[in-house]
This record gives sequence, structure tokens and C-alpha cells, in this order.
Amino acid sequence: MGKDLLGLEHATAEEIEGILVTAEAMKEVLGRDIKKVPTLRGKSMVCLFYEPSTRTRTSFELAGKYLSMDTVNIAVNTSSVAKGECLIDTGKTIEAMGVDVVVIRHGSAGAPHFLAQNISAAVINAGDGQHEHPTQALLDMFSILEAKGRLDNLEVAVIGDIMYSRVARSNIWGLCKMGATVKVFGPPTLIPPDIEKMGAHVCTTFDEALEGTDVINVLRIQRERQGSALFPSLREYAMLYGVNEKRLQKAKKDVLILHPGPVNRGIEISPEVMESGRAVITEQVTNGVAVRMALLYLLIQGGN
Ligand code: CP
Repeated sequence: MGKDLLGLEHATAEEIEGILVTAEAMKEVLGRDIKKVPTLRGKSMVCLFYEPSTRTRTSFELAGKYLSMDTVNIAVNTSSVAKGECLIDTGKTIEAMGVDVVVIRHGSAGAPHFLAQNISAAVINAGDGQHEHPTQALLDMFSILEAKGRLDNLEVAVIGDIMYSRVARSNIWGLCKMGATVKVFGPPTLIPPDIEKMGAHVCTTFDEALEGTDVINVLRIQRERQGSALFPSLREYAMLYGVNEKRLQKAKKDVLILHPGPVNRGIEISPEVMESGRAVITEQVTNGVAVRMALLYLLIQGGN
């Protein structure tokens, strides 16, 4: 691996495979009574989140702690960012304290790349605008691998708000590299016109999205990013695009359901589907810790 993990667009299948294999070993550590190994003792990580997060930020912090790193969270609203400090100055300030890894989430696409070019610490993209969320895609792939035993020759349908989803973009890039077929489906106003250039097939009906599909990744409606009404109402969205038990009658019996969270319950996915044996939303969260432990290990040990 290189110095940073900024996205999956330019990652190789071998790099992705390496992270997923290492995550398997890290998952074993998570299953122990005492979840602590000395692997990264003396190394430090700062989580710098300009957007809200529960799963990504907490799992990075725990991943670091389980590997014996010193970890710090910067709450941007109560940091000098609130006084107008720019990203590069914040980054250089963090670096001057001897930090090895900066995990950044930012509302602007490319912010982690800019930071990575300007500091020598490793930078991990924890979500940049509508661009990429590589660690979410990695944990999604790990969860699929765990349930299905492979990624190649699987059909994965990504359903919902594709336009605003960094999760969709990282999943499409990652899964296509690993030999899966990716389909997308959602309201036409939420399907970007050039999505097929990334390797995804656009479905025009729910039935087409479900037919032959091994995995459904249900996306959250990103109301915070939508400037104007791109569908008439949430009720209509749930009716036309919500994943519910009735719709899943047409899917394979062993179809696997993923959702990155947080969930808009009853809108993009019904509570019954969330709680059915086919959904692995909670397992995804656990796997997120293992995948992030693997990444921290590979980035820091690889750099030594
Ligand atoms: N899936 C995801 O990125 O969740 P958080 O926003 O809670 O980190």
C-alpha cells in the first residue's frame, strides 16, 4: 500500500485483497475477551471529522485502541476551525504533534487528497462529499465475503440515492475490481448520467434489480445533501423504491441485505427486512472495526 488510503478508484485488486485478508485476522482479535494487541504501540491517530458520524469515527477510534495506538478525536465545532483555521493549517498543526495517521471526513470532495499532499502523516478518507467512502466499501466487501465466501461472479444491486452516495461510488469501484457485477437502481433523478462509465449497469425496474441478485446494498436517502426535491415525498419513495418483504419475495431466497447506516427506518428499508436473517447491518458495524484495524496496521507497518 502507499502512504494513504484516499479511495478505491485507483486501488488494485491485490491491495483490496490484502486489506480483506488482514481484516480476517483482526476479526479474530475482536472475538477475544481482551481485545488488545500491542501491534501499533507508540503510534498515534487523530480523527478529524467535519461532518457527523457515529460508525466510522467510533470504529476508527476503537480500531486504533485495540491495536494499542494513542487516539484523539477533534470535534471540529469546538476546535480552531470555528475560528476560521483552514484545512492545511489544521493538518500541519496536527502533524507537528507527531501524529502518524489522520482520518478525515469532509463535506468537500478531494479534501483528504489535498491534506495528503501537504502532510507526511498517513491520511485515510473517511468520506469526502459525494466522492468516496472507501472504508465503508471495504467493510461491505468483507461482509459479503464472510456471508457468500467470494466476491467474484456475484451480482450486487445498489439501490436508492446513487447520485449523492459516496458509498455507491466506492462500492462500484471496489466490487468491479474484485470481479462482481454491479447494478444500480433508484429514482431516475438520483441516478447520475455517467454511472455506467464506472462499470455499473442501470436497472429501470425493481424486478430487474432483483433478478439473479446475490446482494442488495440499500442506500440511505441523503436528505442533507439534496438541495431540491428530487422525488415527490418520502412516502412515495418508500412505496416505489423501499426494500420490503413483499418486494423481496421476487429475490433469491438467500439474498444478502446490506445498509451502511444510519437507516431511515421505513423509508429505504422496512424494519422487518432490517430485522430478518438476511440483513447483516449489525455485522457490518463489527466488520468495520476489523477492516479499519487492518488498514491502520497495513498503512503504518507498510510505512516502516
Ligand atoms: N456508514 C457511515 O459512514 O456511518 P456514519 O456516518 O455513522 O459514520
